[in-house]
Amino acid sequence: MSAEREPIGVIGTGYVGLVTAAGFAELGSDVVCVDIDAEKIARLERGEIPIYEPGLKELVEKNRSRLTFTTDISVALERARLLFVAVGTPPTYSGDADLSAVHAVVGAMPASDSHALIMKSTVPVGTGKVIKRVFEEQGKGGFRYVSCPEFLKEGTAVADFLRPDRVVVGDDGDWAGDAVVDLYRPLLNSEHGGQGPAAPLGALVRTDIASAEMVKLASNAFLATKISFINEIANVCEETGADVLEVAKGMGLDERIGPKFLKAGIGFGGSCFPKDVTALKQLAGNTGYHFQLLNAVVEVNELQKRRVIGKLEKHLGTLVGKRIALLGLAFKPNTDDMREASSLVLAARLQAAGATVVAHDPISADVARPMLRGVDFADDPISAVRGADAVVLVTEWQEFRDLDLVQVREAMAGDVLVDGRNALDGEAAVAAGLRYEGMGRPAPQPAPAKSHA
Ligand code: UGA
Repeated sequence: MSAEREPIGVIGTGYVGLVTAAGFAELGSDVVCVDIDAEKIARLERGEIPIYEPGLKELVEKNRSRLTFTTDISVALERARLLFVAVGTPPTYSGDADLSAVHAVVGAMPASDSHALIMKSTVPVGTGKVIKRVFEEQGKGGFRYVSCPEFLKEGTAVADFLRPDRVVVGDDGDWAGDAVVDLYRPLLNSEHGGQGPAAPLGALVRTDIASAEMVKLASNAFLATKISFINEIANVCEETGADVLEVAKGMGLDERIGPKFLKAGIGFGGSCFPKDVTALKQLAGNTGYHFQLLNAVVEVNELQKRRVIGKLEKHLGTLVGKRIALLGLAFKPNTDDMREASSLVLAARLQAAGATVVAHDPISADVARPMLRGVDFADDPISAVRGADAVVLVTEWQEFRDLDLVQVREAMAGDVLVDGRNALDGEAAVAAGLRYEGMGRPAPQPAPAKSHA
């Protein structure tokens, strides 16, 4: 590879777009970031990062001289031949993905034999085929198309970009696919033509466009299935006296199963799993195929969020007039993302059952406030639990793992602690005088009294 890195354009400056832009800038490319939101572009130009993502602000600052922010797509077209598309593809009422932002980008492209669209947004299988047809119909048949799905996780997005497990490039075998592979070469292991050692850098999967699109949807659907599976095992553990943490450890040691994504809790959320599971189910349904398994994955996830209510009622009886504190609101730690967060369903169910809800989240409060009407927001965890009849750990932020449970008990009016993520020390909770409920775990026993000989 030449020392000169290919300049690129990135259209859309959300999680995926901004991380992709900053990541490729870190690898040495000049990157033009385009967004239709002028306010967002102005903030980025001032050095403000519109989302909370650890390490992203530093990466953008470090590579500021290689990054251009603009609302004008023609700047990207002038300076780069590869245009990465990272716009939103939210679900519609039918469960299909809304591709209007993608098609707006396609429509804005000029006729060109020297440009390519590189699709990073998660799209239904078949989208590449449709876009290529649209290009033909609009007399832009020379425009190339590559599917290059993104697998980064919010909260660890920068590290995931720089150390991918795999890079998937789906294309028609022309210059555009080759150019995308070249861009990723510093992140590929040497077995795949990269510059890194054989491990742990990523493997390259070069394939056709439809298969690349399916790798993305199938991966997310499989991970969501793994979570719903362990959640059902947790529910059976509760009935049988087994401990899901021990079960997951025992299962995960089988190489074919693996230890990751076996954490039982109150269900998955976020902008990807719920949307992509539904989109794949819908995609199959549109072809006449009934994807039975995914129906169960979604249903289990919905019911899982509601199990907390049953646990609270077991200890408190009716929830009318009870004060319930939620620790954590974001769909997972280290993000301010509230999309499809379990806390939204939980807070609404608690309010419907007549409870007063008070909440604290270290980062997402500003994003969460307008979504959680009637919920009181506390500035710190101890203020949140003060006077509460019960506390529910919803998101396993480190700050909550580090809480002094004696202090928690002293601040509360009641003594019920539901650990929705199995993140706290149950025995320490019992020792602090709390009635502790995990997910899929037997009630912890109080530590035996020390004998005084
Ligand atoms: C997910 C995938 O992990 C990424 O590979 C993918 O790129 C991304 O979607 C996407 O399509 O953009 P993300 O939604 O950021 O990433 O978060 P995850 O860390 O995967 O967690 C998703 C949800 O599953 C969270 O609510 C988390 O609490 C829950 N989860 C995760 C569990 O309940 N148990 C587990 O064992 C793991």
